[in-house]
Amino acid sequence: MRRLRVLSVVGARPNFMKMAPVLLELAKRPEEFESVLIHTGQHYDEAMSAVFFRDLGMAKPKHNLSVGSGSHAAQTAEIMKRFEEVCLSEKPDLVLVGGDVNSTMACSLTAVKLLIPVGHIESGLRSCDRTMPEEINRIVTDAISDLLFTTESSGTCNLSREGVAEEKIHFVGNTMIDSLVRCSAELARNGAPPAVRALGESRYSLATIHRPSNVDDPSQLTRVLDILESAAHTAPLLFVTHPRTRERLARLDHGGRFTEVSGPIDTIEAGKCYLLPPLPYLDFLYAMTNASAVLTDSGGIQEETTFLGVPCLTLRENTERPVTVQVGSNEVVGLDKDRILGCLDRIYKGEWKTPSAPPLWDGRAASRIIDVLTTWGMK
Ligand code: UD1
Repeated sequence: MRRLRVLSVVGARPNFMKMAPVLLELAKRPEEFESVLIHTGQHYDEAMSAVFFRDLGMAKPKHNLSVGSGSHAAQTAEIMKRFEEVCLSEKPDLVLVGGDVNSTMACSLTAVKLLIPVGHIESGLRSCDRTMPEEINRIVTDAISDLLFTTESSGTCNLSREGVAEEKIHFVGNTMIDSLVRCSAELARNGAPPAVRALGESRYSLATIHRPSNVDDPSQLTRVLDILESAAHTAPLLFVTHPRTRERLARLDHGGRFTEVSGPIDTIEAGKCYLLPPLPYLDFLYAMTNASAVLTDSGGIQEETTFLGVPCLTLRENTERPVTVQVGSNEVVGLDKDRILGCLDRIYKGEWKTPSAPPLWDGRAASRIIDVLTTWGMK
């Protein structure tokens, strides 16, 4: 039997935890698959990329396209140009992409134009908000993919409604949760990462905010900071900042209201807001697992908190992951300060809803994907 040559793409931080389990499963079946990993270099910092390869046990990519940052058009075009050369030299049977970042769309578009089939992991999610760059990336990628792997039933329904043939859609669960399950077990075995160990004994809220709609406009970011500062009156708050947020914060005078933490966290004091750099995967997982509440605008964190059963407030007007609200611990609250403070009050009184894990979020999504690839490869 000829081996299937699979070229998997990662580019930005959320891709790493979604692709790592798939790479592990591909490596378990060398008689069936030849696996090649490409990093577009959309994220390139130690803290945004390299540390995740270590924490998730991923091998070094065969090619790093080193595209770096840029406008949407420039970044997308540069990825396409460089990825085309890789496709021409590697001649894959299938390109696997994940999530909704610019690298996802750029690589899937490049592949289909070379008549190479594309598999999209985390397909079908829709916020129905076309001002989000990720929504455009999802729509384009799904429209041209051959294998569409969905994480929740809304994804499958959206694709069907958009006319995607049923045989292309595979409901497999969530590979990001596969990484979480594996790494939580590792944390349980090895204990807390030293830099965040002190969090195990505290009650605190954890925040991450980086969506362009929340941080790019100074007046929106000022609203966000005001909310976080008020939230800290309920319990101390750790604000883990993405480089985009950090850059926008530097342009605003936040007047020392946030205490910078650059090394290990020792003690956390009531009423205080702490500003932290991006954390490694295991450190963040530990911080999230032990948090009393999470305030975020990230997609993945809505899912991870649902699985962990940690109350989550999503500071956006919509979510493309409705299952996290329907059965999970999430509530979409926008930037409505009174509502957020009311929610925190309920959370800290122990009055939040009791979540359950969505169907097939069981740590085995990647192995289902590989089973689909095996069947597909035999056709
Ligand atoms: C990207 C994704 C977003 C995802 C986020 C997770 C798109 C359209 N957006 O947004 O969906 O939630 O990643 O992190 O693909 N920067 C660094 N170091 C890095 C990477 C970026 O400092 O390693 C800074 C640069 O100043 C850059 C800015 O972050 O201009 C934004 O990076 P970019 O890749 O354009 O988008 P993200 O905001 O990270």
